[in-house]
Amino acid sequence: MPSTLNLMPVPANIQPGTGQLVIDQLFTVAVGGAKDARLDRGVPRFLDELSRQTGMPLNNQLADSAKATLLIRCESGGRKVQELGEDESYTLEVSPARATLTAPNPLGLLHGLQTFLQLVEPTPAGFAVPVVTIKDEPRFAWRGLLIDVSRHFIPLAVLKRNLDGMAAVKMNVLHWHLSDDEGFRVESKRLPKLHELGSEGQYYTQAEIRDFLAYARDRGIRVVPEFDMPGHSRSWVAAYPELASLPGPYKAGRMANADTVMDPTRDGTYKFLDKFIGEMAALFPDAYFHIGGDEVNNKPWDSSPKIQEFIRARGMKNNRDLQAYFNQRLLKIVGKHGKIMMGWDEVLHPDLPKTVLVQSWRGQESLAAAARQGYRGLLSFGYYLDLMWPASRHYAVDPMAGAAASLSPEEAKRILGGEACMWAEYITPETIDSRVWPRLAAIGERFWSPQAVKDPGSMYQRLDEVSWRLGWLGLTHESNYVPMLRRLAGAEDIRALRILAEAVEPTKDYTRSEVFPQPPVKSVSLNRLVDAARPESAVAHRFAELVEKYIQSGYQDSAAEGQMRSWLVRWQGNHANLNPLLERSFLLAEDEPLSEDLATLATAGLQALDSIGRKQTLPEAWRTEQLAVVERAMKPRANLLVMVAPSIQKLIEATPRP
Ligand code: ACM
Repeated sequence: MPSTLNLMPVPANIQPGTGQLVIDQLFTVAVGGAKDARLDRGVPRFLDELSRQTGMPLNNQLADSAKATLLIRCESGGRKVQELGEDESYTLEVSPARATLTAPNPLGLLHGLQTFLQLVEPTPAGFAVPVVTIKDEPRFAWRGLLIDVSRHFIPLAVLKRNLDGMAAVKMNVLHWHLSDDEGFRVESKRLPKLHELGSEGQYYTQAEIRDFLAYARDRGIRVVPEFDMPGHSRSWVAAYPELASLPGPYKAGRMANADTVMDPTRDGTYKFLDKFIGEMAALFPDAYFHIGGDEVNNKPWDSSPKIQEFIRARGMKNNRDLQAYFNQRLLKIVGKHGKIMMGWDEVLHPDLPKTVLVQSWRGQESLAAAARQGYRGLLSFGYYLDLMWPASRHYAVDPMAGAAASLSPEEAKRILGGEACMWAEYITPETIDSRVWPRLAAIGERFWSPQAVKDPGSMYQRLDEVSWRLGWLGLTHESNYVPMLRRLAGAEDIRALRILAEAVEPTKDYTRSEVFPQPPVKSVSLNRLVDAARPESAVAHRFAELVEKYIQSGYQDSAAEGQMRSWLVRWQGNHANLNPLLERSFLLAEDEPLSEDLATLATAGLQALDSIGRKQTLPEAWRTEQLAVVERAMKPRANLLVMVAPSIQKLIEATPRP
């Protein structure tokens, strides 16, 4: 039995045993110890999830503790408002007769129930959980996901299923990026123009938000709101232009080069923010309040004589000092309303008190620098899901590595964890799950599991397992894939399109070409192959492994060669099969060159294998020509990359030379 089983995140301690506890329709749960409403709802929810996962109807009445299959017991109730650093540990002991789950705090029980669900597998004797003892606790207290709902509005039902996914991988903070240039997404009763004029009609009412916060709390997830200021604020000034540094008018919505910045020199700005933050501090119970503070566009400050005069008159040196002045005044307001202020790493300034929590997105250095200066911090650099990196690349980033590795123990304690970020320029309710999942589970493991858990091979193996299980929660990263391909094709038979889709990936970093809606349209359709294609091509991965194995074997591994050939033959013939669809659907026309290159590369790969196998040289001109196709295929077209190209390049380069 592998010591990690199929668990993700890997628990802190596992002692495998022998035998198993069979889970049949007589499965029951008993709850003892301290009462907590989250358990009253969490246990039936666990039974529902187990029932869905196994397809077996289960009795959701609680059983007597002497008879239950799973006995759970909590030592004490948790805090009324979930707090950073509450004990999340649990112990799960499974014997052939029964299982017991104990924890000091309900949060640990919620995590332990998720571990139990991941352990359930079909066996010859029925569904079963292996005999095991797990003592588990998180490495970091702050394990977050940021979701931007401003660039594209994401309905609450979609966010809720993502909370379910987060709970399944033991993440505990949703950082809700609620305002940006494009849209202001919260109803304000005190300043109603914010949602009326700042949201294009897409916002959450306060009643909806309260319901959502209760849903998150039930799953052991804190919700930290972010209202980005003074930059990224066009939607605010569309509603209240007097907040802006330069006269308007302004409009919310998606448009090019239209970020704005608040005027930090006016007292009215702070009166406004006091009124606003007071209202939001009451709506959001979490202790932390994120004020953004990133990417302040200085141009409006530079162009305003009044603001430049303010800087001079106060003896400030520059715009950075002005932002620090703004942050200090903001800090007083946030503190007055009982909250701890958070900001992106641009807020770091010698004038800022050490109570501010700093979120590093620009590099690991800023996190270490903050910790050295006495600030507590979170790492987000390295965890940007919108960059379309492979899971392994995120997984390799550790909050305590890089510049943080040389921190003293006391400084290191200031690093509370990290957050993945799902920025929403290119996501919709239809595609968000496939951009978050399953990669987020690998980041979740980075934040939960011991630092030594870092083997990418083991991670990918378990990620594949966790991925399909997440589908039981209603996440659509797998279930939307085929329907989206069918839409592109306008056809039932998508075999050829699928072969292309599985050999490509969306372009990386911020190289996707930005498209803005043209009025009267409010948003651009994200219904192309780039939107359906997975961020990480499993096929390209497997093909790369085969090529590596074949080369490592000194070109002797005939099994690897056979498998490579079978892929190459499929790709070689695919363009002809796909052509009718490429010609038929306007959505696919842009993908024609990619399909053609995939076939050309496949032919080159087959020729390379023949040349290597027969030790026959190919003309130098052939090599030059094929490498040019490789190079083209690795440049974004239709915002896609042909991900098998680098492996085929290796085969071309491995051919014997004259
Ligand atoms: C950020 O990505 N501007 C926080």
